[in-house]
Parts: sequence; C-alpha cells; structure tokens
Amino acid sequence: MQIITDINTLRLTRRTWQAGKDLIAFVPTMGNLHQGHLKLVKEAKKHASKVVVSIFVNPLQFGPDEDLDAYPRTLEEDKQALEALGVDVLFMPQAKDIYSRGLEHQTFVEVPGLSYMICGASRPGHFRGVATIVCKLFNMVQPNLAFFGEKDFQQLQVIKAMVTDLSMNLSIHGVPTERESDGLAMSSRNGYLTEQQRKIAPMLYQQISWIADAILSGRRDFSALVANANKNLAEAGFKPDYIELRSATTLLQVGHEDKQLVILAAAFLGKTRLIDNLQLSI
Ligand code: PAF
Repeated sequence: MQIITDINTLRLTRRTWQAGKDLIAFVPTMGNLHQGHLKLVKEAKKHASKVVVSIFVNPLQFGPDEDLDAYPRTLEEDKQALEALGVDVLFMPQAKDIYSRGLEHQTFVEVPGLSYMICGASRPGHFRGVATIVCKLFNMVQPNLAFFGEKDFQQLQVIKAMVTDLSMNLSIHGVPTERESDGLAMSSRNGYLTEQQRKIAPMLYQQISWIADAILSGRRDFSALVANANKNLAEAGFKPDYIELRSATTLLQVGHEDKQLVILAAAFLGKTRLIDNLQLSI
C-alpha cells in the first residue's frame, strides 16, 4: 500500500492508473477505522481495480463546541487494517494543504435544504463542511465510484445531491450499517462511552426498531410512537436530540404517497452524540 500525504503525488499516481484504464474506487474516512469502514473498503474492492482510502479529520465539519480535538486518531492500526485488505493508496493530506487559504477564506460547497434539516438543524454548518471536503477529495482522487456508510444516512443523501447538482462524473454507493452483536451501530464515537453508557447505548437502535415494527404492523400514529421512544430513551439516561420519520428518498416529512421511509435518530449519552437510522418499506 502506497501512503501519500501530498496532493501532487496523489495526482501523479492517479495519472498512471488512468493510463491503464483502471476503475478507481474511493472510501473517504476520518480514520479510527472499525468494521463499518472496513466493510466499505471490501465493497469498494469488489467494484474496482484500484482502491483509495483517505484519512482526514476534517475541521470544517466540526462545530466550535464539538469533539475535533478529542476525535480518536489511531493511524498505526488503521494503516495495518488497510494494508491487510489490499488497499492501493492511503491518502492522508495535511489540513494546511487542504485548506491552504485558511478555513475562514475557504470556498464552500453547500447543498441547500437537505443540509439544514434533521442533523443539520442540530449541527449548523456540519453538512457544508462535509460537502466541501468530499468535493475537494473527489477533485483530488477523481474516483469512478465512492463508498459511504448508510449509518450517516443524511450525509449520504447530501453527497448524492451534490454529485447530481454539480454534474460530477462518479457513482455514489451506500453500504448498510455494520452493527455490534447487541445492535449498536458501529461508530468511532462509541469509544467515548463509559462502561455503563455502553450497556444502554443499544437502546437507540431498539427504540427505532420498535417504531419500525409498529409501523409495519399498521400503526400510523407517528407522533405518539416517536413520543413514546423519546420517553423511553430519556428514562434510560439518554438526552434525545431528535427522532424523525421521513421519506427515504427526499428526507422530507412523510406524505401519503411515500412507501420508502427512514427513521432517523440522534441522542446524547453524556457528551457522546449517537446517531442511527432504519429504513423500511410500507
Ligand atoms: O463520514 C465521515 O467519516 C466523514 O464525514 C467524511 C465523509 C469522511 C468527510 O469528512
């Protein structure tokens, strides 16, 4: 595996591949890789002859009171895991090269609407930071395909919209959420949980699964279902941020015609913000 830290070397390497007419798959990450990330890499390998993974903890997508400094960095373990999977290039750019004119002068990519609702309402500027870095990384790597986890369902929709709106020449692939044996969605932030919090963390998934089962068994009193799940989470020690039932295709409020739905949830356990979602067809 080639480890590249500067953009010019990445472009030179990329050019040699283009000559060979390789299909190039890209998996952008912020590192601290877990089985969820590795599943993205395995999917990428199925579709392409060259796989590029990036590790970059993107300051632009963190709010001022968020965990940018504390975000777990486990580079040595990450390198070993990617090497073992046969990744071709690990791209680890520096913030000074990515944001060479400084964060405050950076040109932004903003996907309106989708970026302001749900998680975007709780984390203003977050999806602008995500869209901007993903756009920049796409420009550097120039992949034919890119892979993202469905755990960040709204992020995936924002990126798909950006690719469509900016006529980018690549396909975006969502990969189902990888879960621990007790149902907790894998996330780098799970490492922040205390032993006690870790025990109750799977309840987030249990509650959205309960809502999904209730809907599938015919209930349509969505507000009551959400209120009940919020109450259960609060009683268990969570501070719920939101539980939303939306159209899985538009992320808008569910209308009569919508058949593909998604339940999205975010809740704090102490300082740790957990998110999860579940798609369902009715
Ligand atoms: O999902 C993530 O890890 C990040 O939001 C991403 C897509 C790598 C952009 O920094």
